[in-house]
Amino acid sequence: TTVRLADYRRPAFLIPEVVLDIDLQSEDEARVAATLSVQRNPDGASSSSLVLDLDEVSVESVAIDGKLLPPERWQADGRYLTVQDVPASFRLDTVSRIHPRQNTKLMGIYTSSTGFFSLCEAEGFRRITPFLDRPDVMARYTVTLHADRERYPVLLANGNCVAQGEEGGARHWARWVDPFPKPSYLFAVVAARLDRSQDSFRTRSGRNVLLQFFVEPGKLDQGVFALESLKHAMKWDEDTYGLEVDLDEYNIVAVGDFNAGAMENKGLNIFNTKLVLARSDISTDWDFNFIDRTVAHEYFHNWTGNRVTCRDWFQLALKEGLTVFREQQYAGDRYSRAVARIQAVRNLRTGQFPEDAGPMAHPVRPSAYQQVSNFYTSTVYQKGAELVRMMHTLVGPAKFRQAMDLYFREHDGQAVTTDALVAAVEEASGEDLSQFRLWYEQSGTARLSVRDQYDETSQTYVLTVTQSCPPTPGQPTKKPMHMPLTVGLLTPDGRELPLRLEGEKTGRGGSAVLSLRQETEVFRFIDVPVPPVPSLGRNFSAPVIIGYPYDDQALQLLLGYDSDAFNRWEAGQRLAMDLLLRGVADRRAGRPVQFPDYLAEAFGRVLADAQKDPAFAAEALTLPAEIIIAERLEEIDPQAVHEVRFAMRRFLAERLHGAFRSAYDLFATPGPYSPDAESSGRRALRNLCLAFLMDLGEAETRSLCVAQLAGATNMTDAMAALAALASCDCPERRPALDGFYAKWKDEPLVVDKWLSTEALSRLPGTVARVRELSRHPAFTLKNPNKVYALVGSFGVNQVNFHAADGSGYALMVELALALDPINPQVASRMVRNLERYKRYEPARRELMRAALQTIAAHPGLSRETGEVVGKALA
Ligand code: ARG
Ligand code: ZN
Repeated sequence: TTVRLADYRRPAFLIPEVVLDIDLQSEDEARVAATLSVQRNPDGASSSSLVLDLDEVSVESVAIDGKLLPPERWQADGRYLTVQDVPASFRLDTVSRIHPRQNTKLMGIYTSSTGFFSLCEAEGFRRITPFLDRPDVMARYTVTLHADRERYPVLLANGNCVAQGEEGGARHWARWVDPFPKPSYLFAVVAARLDRSQDSFRTRSGRNVLLQFFVEPGKLDQGVFALESLKHAMKWDEDTYGLEVDLDEYNIVAVGDFNAGAMENKGLNIFNTKLVLARSDISTDWDFNFIDRTVAHEYFHNWTGNRVTCRDWFQLALKEGLTVFREQQYAGDRYSRAVARIQAVRNLRTGQFPEDAGPMAHPVRPSAYQQVSNFYTSTVYQKGAELVRMMHTLVGPAKFRQAMDLYFREHDGQAVTTDALVAAVEEASGEDLSQFRLWYEQSGTARLSVRDQYDETSQTYVLTVTQSCPPTPGQPTKKPMHMPLTVGLLTPDGRELPLRLEGEKTGRGGSAVLSLRQETEVFRFIDVPVPPVPSLGRNFSAPVIIGYPYDDQALQLLLGYDSDAFNRWEAGQRLAMDLLLRGVADRRAGRPVQFPDYLAEAFGRVLADAQKDPAFAAEALTLPAEIIIAERLEEIDPQAVHEVRFAMRRFLAERLHGAFRSAYDLFATPGPYSPDAESSGRRALRNLCLAFLMDLGEAETRSLCVAQLAGATNMTDAMAALAALASCDCPERRPALDGFYAKWKDEPLVVDKWLSTEALSRLPGTVARVRELSRHPAFTLKNPNKVYALVGSFGVNQVNFHAADGSGYALMVELALALDPINPQVASRMVRNLERYKRYEPARRELMRAALQTIAAHPGLSRETGEVVGKALA
């Protein structure tokens, strides 16, 4: 069944008050008594029966205003509880049973090793009690939890704890009241054995907020970093947006079994351990960075998501796009702005661009879905953030801030649509964004084709920009969109030209934000003394693909001199990409693959310059990912892509051998470990040098790697050495991997790194190894992190998942079908690795199609996975 935005109706009933009594009798069973105050919605359709959502809950009794209803007055089928002939305003009491331990879908209330946890977004609350489980129904919640005192000493829910006590049978209880009305997806409870640390934050208006962090016993030391991040994030939101925390108590709980990364439940954030626990010997720089950002992201949701929430799930980007944008701003402020931007764009290109070119392509605000859980996508999150960023660029930071103020002033406490944000920006800035709204409706990655002409006699330079967007499912043609194109012009010796457009009184400085609206736009720059090199789409001003016929000299100039750091990086990527694409064509045509000297020279200059900004150098020396190269091909041959990219790595490693080797020594980070931007940048660069050198497979480098692995005092250096050894078919490889597992087998998050390293291997035999690991005692399909580590990593392994004989696809089918009945949300994500079969060369295309057909034909397939295979095969 398809849910459509066009069918949205306001709810027929409202539920302003919810009182829940949750008795966690055993891991197998809980009794949930719900008291809902229900009112007919004056703005909704009139209906004589109340229809509540329900999923795997058995309803035992239903009462209205204290009187039990006879069985003929209510029916519960698998999806709804229907109560007939209800009055205009009444109290509804239901008593239901749920089964937390059997809840392997991990939506609703479920068990993990230390107790009971919950995840409700998007539609998990209906797995706890019958409810109008939609975000435009907002209620004040009072929750009483009962559980065994010894086994589950910590009892938590949203809001403030107002009472607690002991009860018979060695049990205890606690009552929580959340003063803020909220949608049901922000509901959360925890009953577990956990250690606690506490801290506090003083808001700028002088209130003291209690911060508590709960974690599996014995792991408190791994929570210190996240608590610091939380305080940074609270301060940052005050400084940047004037937004203060509105709670007396802010709790964070870590749990090892979790479908998502983290969840912003009001006052009770629940985090996947992977995104909150950090300690230098078990977490990499990347982990520290990601944890900091995720803690901030969830905190930022308190305003962008919780105070102003979504009307319905088509509006998911209202909260996610905006919150990812805020998270990106935070990361830019705390780390290197350029590196943060580069990483966000790489993310978009590896995740969102392929999605936009596949069968699941959808607009940032989708107009239809079967399962909303399939729409927690890169498009909604990453492209959604790009749309907010474009508005920020179009109106400028000051106006954008005013727009945010207005947005909160007008919509605090409401459930609204993506348009509320656009309208606020429009109103605060005076900018007409009517055409801009198309970004929320049209799917597909737009292309800009840029041509230029320099006229020496009139000293004018003309840029002609034509936009287009390829067809996507359900959208054969697109309208031109409104977007900012930030440009600069460089002289042939690398100076920035002041920009002045014909007909404009004042110049625009060195960088100009051009506004594109028409399909073709022409910009005439005057007083241009020399034929310039254009720097296009600075700071990645729009989520599009820019085509311009750069030659290698222009790209080298930009790489060396562009004042915009993002475009310096971009120039290096283009330089490499052009050669990689040529290489793939040569390889497929049976011609030798060769690379020019200028490539090695350009990369050599970046390396020679690396002292200035090692983190940037590491990004600039990283070749475009195989997925990004593949995306540029008419027809993907993943083996050819891999071989050509690997050949380029070896070419660079040979030519720059000495420079890589000395950089390896030069960029060591002596002293105690710290994940700050400076030292993590040095480690990134140094380990990148090591990886390049390892591609030559020399015994001396292998010893260097073995020594680094053995001597590492932090996980960043250990993992880099392990990954380098794992990529090489050498005698040191197996002992390194086995030794790593033996050392870390009791740290689940490190075991995940090991599984992932094995699954990402480019070496032959990996398919068999992954199958073997899927039966290893360290692996279980019941834990999402294990699945993501092994199966998820394998799914992006361009060589072995795409093995020419189809064995990788067969393994994916096997694992996905085993997982589907256990955890359909995670299974459908795994299956998405097969969805783009039409993009591949004929042999793989057929194998992938057959794999999808096998899944589609499987009896009892979940709705989640069914939607993905159905759309792929359509
Ligand atoms: N709202 C969460 C976040 O982005 C994500 C929840 C996703 N839910 C899920 N079942 N995967 O912060
Ligand atoms: Zn989010």
